[in-house]
Amino acid sequence: MEYTPVFINAMFVLLIGVYVYKNERRIADISTTHDGTGVAYIRWGKKLCDGPNTETIYSGQVGGGHYAHTGASVNYVCLPNDPNIAQPLKPHCDYDLIYGAEYQIGAYNQPPGMRSGIENRDAACAACLAKGKMASMIIPGRDTCYKGWTKEYSGILMAGKYNHSASSEYACVDIDAEAISDDSKDENGVLFYPVKTVCGSLKCPPYKQDTEVLCVVCSK
Ligand SMILES: *[C@@H]1O[C@H](CO)[C@@H](O)[C@H](O)[C@H]1NC(C)=O
Repeated sequence: MEYTPVFINAMFVLLIGVYVYKNERRIADISTTHDGTGVAYIRWGKKLCDGPNTETIYSGQVGGGHYAHTGASVNYVCLPNDPNIAQPLKPHCDYDLIYGAEYQIGAYNQPPGMRSGIENRDAACAACLAKGKMASMIIPGRDTCYKGWTKEYSGILMAGKYNHSASSEYACVDIDAEAISDDSKDENGVLFYPVKTVCGSLKCPPYKQDTEVLCVVCSK
């Protein structure tokens, strides 16, 4: 009687069994959270996410480059409120600098529909997961989504001021923008101004001179 091939076959079947079992377990783990798909995006101006099937990954504050620095980074980041411990850096000037963001929105330039009282307050943000979705996009110029898309939030397009030294990027800031706290001071850093239209190369109609630019974040 030759036992070796039988033993090898038995080991082979066992290994396949273990492999299949582990994979089934992994698939089960994924599907208990949600159906396995989802897209992440940042909601500028709010502490929490409230899309129809959206969870808050974390709450944070907006960070970025200083409005008066010519080499400032342009992109905004959403810094979580529970950072891990970081080590001090050596005294030297070969670094980039990150600041918090403030709303530069007062009675003089406040877009209709935005809450008042946020002037010079520090801007909140939240990282969001739209569950079961495959794509998310910002649509500037609208506050409603196209057919078949779900509205995550809508707001006003904001950026740094046109004649400040630092370049900036557009952010869709929630129409109900809130501060991280009520006690923030006027310290400057990253500054959010409402964006205003200038007709010419920008075609009017459909756009209009000197208006706000609506925005909406949609998922599908
Ligand atoms: C930017 O524009 C404002 C008017 O809104 C003006 O008062 C200010 O001097 C300008 N700043 C620079 C650096 O040109």
